[in-house]
Amino acid sequence: MPIFAYDNLFQLRSSGSSLLMQVTPAGRLVHLYYGHSLPEGDYTLADFPPTPSQPSISPNSPEPDGIDSVGTALSEYPTFGLGDFRPSAIQAVGEDGTRVLDLRYHCHKIYPGKPRIPGLPATYAADDEAETLEIELMDDPTGLIVTLVYTVFENHPVITRSVKAFNGGQKPIKLLRIDSLALDLPENRYDLVHLWGCWAMERTPERTPLIHGGMKISSTRGASSHTHNPFVALVDHEATEEYGEAMGFAFVYSGSFQIQTEVDFAGQVRLLMGLNPDNFSWTLNPGEQFNTPEGVMVYSDQGLGGMSRAFHKLFSHNLIRGPWRDKDRPILVNNWEATYFNFNEEKLLSIGRSAAELGIEMLVMDDGWFGKRDDDHSSLGDWFVDHHKLPEGLKSLSDKLHEMGLKMGIWFEPEMISPDSDLYRAHPDWALHIPGRPNSPSRWQYVLDMSRQDVQDYLFERMSDILSSAKIEYVKWDFNRNFSEVGSALLPPDRQGEVEHRYMLGLYSLLERILTAFPELLLEGCAGGGGRFDAGMLYYAPQIWTSDDTDAIERLTIQQGTSYCYPPSTMSAHVSACPNHQTGRVTPFKTRGIVAMGGSFGYELDLTKLSDEEKEEVKRQVALYHELAPVIRNGDYYRLENSPTLAAWETVSADGTEVVASAVVPMARIVNTHFVRLRGLEEEASYRDMDSGKVYSGGMLMHAGINLTPYRLRDRDGVMIRLKKVE
Ligand code: DGJ
Repeated sequence: MPIFAYDNLFQLRSSGSSLLMQVTPAGRLVHLYYGHSLPEGDYTLADFPPTPSQPSISPNSPEPDGIDSVGTALSEYPTFGLGDFRPSAIQAVGEDGTRVLDLRYHCHKIYPGKPRIPGLPATYAADDEAETLEIELMDDPTGLIVTLVYTVFENHPVITRSVKAFNGGQKPIKLLRIDSLALDLPENRYDLVHLWGCWAMERTPERTPLIHGGMKISSTRGASSHTHNPFVALVDHEATEEYGEAMGFAFVYSGSFQIQTEVDFAGQVRLLMGLNPDNFSWTLNPGEQFNTPEGVMVYSDQGLGGMSRAFHKLFSHNLIRGPWRDKDRPILVNNWEATYFNFNEEKLLSIGRSAAELGIEMLVMDDGWFGKRDDDHSSLGDWFVDHHKLPEGLKSLSDKLHEMGLKMGIWFEPEMISPDSDLYRAHPDWALHIPGRPNSPSRWQYVLDMSRQDVQDYLFERMSDILSSAKIEYVKWDFNRNFSEVGSALLPPDRQGEVEHRYMLGLYSLLERILTAFPELLLEGCAGGGGRFDAGMLYYAPQIWTSDDTDAIERLTIQQGTSYCYPPSTMSAHVSACPNHQTGRVTPFKTRGIVAMGGSFGYELDLTKLSDEEKEEVKRQVALYHELAPVIRNGDYYRLENSPTLAAWETVSADGTEVVASAVVPMARIVNTHFVRLRGLEEEASYRDMDSGKVYSGGMLMHAGINLTPYRLRDRDGVMIRLKKVE
């Protein structure tokens, strides 16, 4: 049983982490401990680090309560207005117009398994995999009941969190902020690790000590965004990639978010994660409930690498769903960088013929097959086949591809509308907009108001019509601009703060409907590359287009950064043409293959233009990836190195018998004595290099490392070393 509750003490223990909290005599829920798992014990508040008192400055509890001050006590879910001056997890306005909330313990329940969060993506667990604790807290004057939901996983070092707010009073309550996760820690020994970036340069890791006062990682873009990812880690100053304490926090949501840290005068740390309050409010009428998205907490005593592997396992087994969760994904060719908008059926079939000859399994037709879409100025929303490009329609194309032995995929950008579209001419009010203000275009498009049922129904009708008109096994779901002028024609002025979250609920509802209607469909998420690479999307799309930057050297950092939180199998990665379309860089074909094989593999170039030598290389890569795919999908991933002169990573198969280690020299120096130490092997076991036949001990490979010098790696060269455990 991972959850123990007695004498007002709650002890939650996953396989590797513990969280303890206690109800004080006055009913406050104070935090005692989060970190490495603790044995079950008869703990009390006094057993844990004392919180400092500031009696002359900070307000005290109006009644004796066993804590010095609410201003310094560690709180499980801090509120505003009672003397805790650190940021609060919730703010709500009741009848009296103030934001003060005093949440006190009301009741709790514990049950096996994990509840769904209505309308939202979340991790899932069978009854024997997890246990859930719900603690109800109540603010008497307003009648607001806040339920903290904790699910403790038995096989992962994971505790998930979400919050329900129920109006049990007589008057409306307006929520202004409601975080999913709050965590107070008694001392600041942490660096913050987060992933920043921009379009075509997503998820660059940055590590920086927490500072006194606040730090904020957030998005107000209506998407989790290219610029900041909804993930952070708190990492002990001493911790490295493989040693020491690292706590990871991921938000299972694809819209605007906020992650905040605060270090107080005594060095106590607060972390908050939730919906971005900047453009949020939600009116709860009596009897109504609001559910927050989920926050995931991962604990590792094996550094950042251990944290990432825990996220990878959780997301691969308890977030990603459907038939593709446990299957190798098809090796595909996407025509975007091959043709952009300039294609027709014959061109696609010629790429398809080359693909089939080379062993590639699917052709994905990207942007440009619908409306009058010869460039990006028009037609989003008009999801009808362009018969100039595809005179015989989708079925004919799909039939011909299937006759060649290929599957077919298709591109949509459902959430968008071009001002130059029949849809916009018929329904201008379907776009997000604010009456009296001009709409700001981006890429010549506006954003559809996904909070509207009629918009969702139209998109479902158009997409299901297309998807049932031909055999289509895959959809790339794109989203190419961020929000502005967020307003919905259907909501009254005092509810406009609900639009962004209602948009996300509408989006998730449409994704769910499409997957229910087409259960075998493989969805690939995309948002101008990796602008919505988050745990929320992974619930629907088991793979996501990692970045519009397809340059193999740039991808080294993008993919390693992404791997901090997301499994390699979720990163779509393609071999593209050289000079690279984004950077102009020329990189050997082999290196491009090695980098792309670090994720869900494919091609994004005109296969008909390859030389014979390159075609032979494609055949080799395709055959190799078939062998690697199960290892990449299920194995343990290690970031070995990422410096300007060497990037290296490794996957060890789930049963420990296969090892795939890859290394690339982004920039050669004249001193090129490269070696790399492997990880995750058995010291005493022997491993055979599948190319050279040479046998090494695990200890040798991990401590002395593999000498890469014999591979004579020059600028932008790469090597993949495969080892098999000798039984
Ligand atoms: C952005 C995507 O990331 C690209 O791969 C491509 O699908 C374009 N959109 C199409 O407009």
